[in-house]
Amino acid sequence: MTSPQKCAAVVVGAGPAGLAVMGNLLEKQLGGKIAWVDPYFQAGRVNRKYREVPSNTKVALFQAYATAVQSFRSVINSTRMPNAFTTMAKLDQEKTCHLHHAADVVRALTDGIVKMDQVLPCHGAVTAANLVENTSTWTVRIKLRDHDEIEVVTPRLILCTGSSPTEVPIPLKDHPIERLDLDVVLKPSELVSFLSRDTPVTVAVVGASHSAILALLNLVYLARTSHPHLRIKWFTRHPLRYAEYKDGWILRDNTGLKGLAADFARQQLEDAVLPHSEAGQFISKVDCGGGRETAQYEKHLPSCSYIVQAVGFTRDPLPELSVNGSLLKPEFDAVTGGFHDGHGRGVRGLYGAGIAFPERVVDPQGNVEHAVGFFKFMKFLKRVTPQWAAIQ
Ligand SMILES: Cc1cc2nc3c(=O)[nH]c(=O)nc-3n(C[C@H](O)[C@H](O)[C@H](O)COP(=O)(O)OP(=O)(O)OC[C@H]3O[C@@H](n4cnc5c(N)ncnc54)[C@H](O)[C@@H]3O)c2cc1C
Ligand SMILES: NC(=O)c1ccc[n+]([C@@H]2O[C@H](COP(=O)([O-])OP(=O)(O)OC[C@H]3O[C@@H](n4cnc5c(N)ncnc54)[C@H](OP(=O)(O)O)[C@@H]3O)[C@@H](O)[C@H]2O)c1
Repeated sequence: MTSPQKCAAVVVGAGPAGLAVMGNLLEKQLGGKIAWVDPYFQAGRVNRKYREVPSNTKVALFQAYATAVQSFRSVINSTRMPNAFTTMAKLDQEKTCHLHHAADVVRALTDGIVKMDQVLPCHGAVTAANLVENTSTWTVRIKLRDHDEIEVVTPRLILCTGSSPTEVPIPLKDHPIERLDLDVVLKPSELVSFLSRDTPVTVAVVGASHSAILALLNLVYLARTSHPHLRIKWFTRHPLRYAEYKDGWILRDNTGLKGLAADFARQQLEDAVLPHSEAGQFISKVDCGGGRETAQYEKHLPSCSYIVQAVGFTRDPLPELSVNGSLLKPEFDAVTGGFHDGHGRGVRGLYGAGIAFPERVVDPQGNVEHAVGFFKFMKFLKRVTPQWAAIQ
């Protein structure tokens, strides 16, 4: 291994959050290069898995993200037209769009940022990092795509490592049922060939938030077009919850249904409409509220061939982190973006952002949520990165 390179920061992950961190730190003139590490530099999961998903935020917010920092504006101004930015600029700013537009903007910005002199792009994965407290220096180990390993030393390590669909144990142990990957259900072009067209298939969908409603929408589309034998059992434990637009703020901004998912839910899935709606021809709702979960699964799951769990997202595994050689179990501080160790002590120079490490927000009615979204990451980072930059 070559001798470690010194950098002003190491940013782990090149999804929308890692990119937003880069944009903010580049504005801070940290006085050294910023190492940026990702195996792909392809806009993260939104590009890899969710290009066909309709957004639940309006185009204007993707535009606001893409123009929020000087380095992004420089990339946009120096990218030959037509490009992902000009395409997005032509969309109705007040409407939602498919996520491939947002993913292409992130990819175009990434392509420009990695070429900047202040950036050291590393195609690979961070496998471990150790903080030596008396020098306030992290030694970050990176396994490059060509299998070489390098080390970077830095005062700041920022984790934007993303999350994947949560899998919980299948509620009925003895019944053989195949898992259907949520990512496949959210990608109609893959789903169409995954499920049999000719034999009766019943899919259990668990959940009632954005992912679950889009799963139902995609399955219903197949049932009424190419897959006439497809039926859906929808296991839900709470009523449908929608974002509500108040005067200057949004109730359930992060947890309520928005966009196409909200329209579909209101028009076809509410109890008052489901029995007569087109979706209701294919979906049987299984109400698991009020402690009836186990009984309902026992009754209804045996008739299902697949189960798709749309029950949230879980942080992807982190690199092995240690302080002075002792393993660290970092606890995220969702207000500052920093971390604590198991004893509540701040961990110097370690920060996080993105879907894995979102900001805690409180609305005017006192409801607590975690802010997940392109522009929400940007807003959070604008607030906290000045403190991240200020450490010596
Ligand atoms: C289905 C879905 C739809 C969404 N729709 C919207 C929407 O409409 N509007 C909106 O604003 N937000 C939306 N979001 C929320 C959020 O904006 C996205 O989830 C976003 O992609 C999260 O970005 P991220 O950078 O935190 O994570 P990711 O996109 O997952 O990126 C993480 C990156 O880190 C890399 N990585 C992980 N570990 C390492 C390592 N050890 N070393 C190096 N690299 C590593 C990965 O390869 C990846 O590239 C949606 C989320 C989901 C799940
Ligand atoms: N563009 C889009 O339209 C889109 C699509 C998908 C996701 N997203 C974004 O991605 C993020 C994650 O969204 P998400 O919809 O996947 O998840 P989520 O918003 O985290 O919600 C998870 C849901 O799963 C339910 N749940 C958890 N455990 C369960 C269990 N064991 N059985 C039944 N239900 C269970 C929860 O209900 P309880 O409240 O009862 O626990 C909750 O409704 C959000 O930021 C969202 O905005 C966006």
